[in-house]
Amino acid sequence: MGSTVILASGRGSNFTAMTEALPPAGHRILSLITDRKNAGARQTARDRGIRDHHVSYYQRPREEAEQEILTILEQEEPDLVILAGFMRLLSPPLVRTWKKKIINIHPSLLPLYPGTDSIARSFRGPEKEMGITIHYVDEGMDTGPVIRQESFSKSEVTSLKAAEERIHQLEHRWYPQTVIELLGGIS
Ligand code: GRF
Repeated sequence: MGSTVILASGRGSNFTAMTEALPPAGHRILSLITDRKNAGARQTARDRGIRDHHVSYYQRPREEAEQEILTILEQEEPDLVILAGFMRLLSPPLVRTWKKKIINIHPSLLPLYPGTDSIARSFRGPEKEMGITIHYVDEGMDTGPVIRQESFSKSEVTSLKAAEERIHQLEHRWYPQTVIELLGGIS
């Protein structure tokens, strides 16, 4: 049995996918950390009895907010820290402390289209394929070692909306699956 802490900022569909896949596979979600008070993931966490920490970055140095995150991680001692749409770059001290234990999902075939608006930029780009990347987090933006990539042919989607749906389907299938495989190897 492995344990995780999940960080999310937004609607939290990947967080929901984790809550549906990890416990049945025998793994625990110890808590959710959000930087936004109104992140959709918080309600999901409450509904499912998962501890929910709000760490505010508002009008304070990033280091101070990250110290709070580090304290939570020290207390929870997860096997894996999962970024699921966490919209903040983690600074080197935090990444170094949890080296090879923090993973992220990005909606493009990295190293193509790091950063924001990646689905639209992939959709409009010249490549024949688009997809997702699950990777370890290092000190850069969307640059850490790749764990898994899954893709589809752009000829299969006729609109940006359809491409977005396809990307999220891949995310919800492969992110929990990859976490289960990693936890199986760790614990
Ligand atoms: C996902 O597309 C993920 O790849 C990216 O942020 C988005 C988060 O979506 N890092 P959600 O909040 O999990 O629905």
